[in-house]
Amino acid sequence: MPADTVRLDRFLCEATGLTRSAARRAIAAGRVCLAGAVCKKADAKLGAGTPVTLDGAPLAAPAGGVYLMLNKPAGLLCVSRDARRPTVTDLVGDAYPRRALFPAGRLDKASTGLVLLTDDGALAHALLAPGRHVPKTYLVTLDTAFTPRMRAGFAAGVTLADGTTLAPAEAEPLPDGRVRVTLRQGVYHQIKRMFGVYGAGVEALHRVSIGPLTLDEALAPGAWRALTGAELAALRAPGTQK
Ligand code: URA
Repeated sequence: MPADTVRLDRFLCEATGLTRSAARRAIAAGRVCLAGAVCKKADAKLGAGTPVTLDGAPLAAPAGGVYLMLNKPAGLLCVSRDARRPTVTDLVGDAYPRRALFPAGRLDKASTGLVLLTDDGALAHALLAPGRHVPKTYLVTLDTAFTPRMRAGFAAGVTLADGTTLAPAEAEPLPDGRVRVTLRQGVYHQIKRMFGVYGAGVEALHRVSIGPLTLDEALAPGAWRALTGAELAALRAPGTQK
């Protein structure tokens, strides 16, 4: 495909935030017009500036970088690539062949949930830099009961086995038995090590948000979609980095 063309289904995902399968359904249903004519081919190629409408409303692709939210399944490495083992970027396949995508922030191999894949190093830095304290929220399944002592310890700042004292973190028990934990720093295996201080093991860990970006519940494990313009604007807003 020439560098300035894009597939219609991909364009629709990027412009609307629809998943790839929902975009294909909209195209097959005749809801999408290219230069004024209905187009039912998901792989139709768009040149720069080709007018596209969905249900009659004009669409514009977000300019610049690639920004994808992905629901990481357990078992994948959260890195750009690995010589032998599958990674989160493998889920995107060849959808962005000329883009060097990387995950903005790590999740452990066994952890699941929200990963932001991008090629925008400046945004990733703004979200991850230690001084920015962007909150990240996780749903945690423990192998033991969550106690008021853990809650108070997290709020005060846990001191890890190696003597490191962490910043205060919020931990709330949920009706389904899981614990919602919000961190504002990123230390290797942080949640596992925090609960480990209290002799509690983490059985499952699922990330649901990074700053203002919340995992789309319509994304099954392994599925991904482009961020909407509103999601990207919220991530870029100055308040996000506070
Ligand atoms: N803390 C952990 O222990 N693991 C993760 O994947 C994320 C936070």
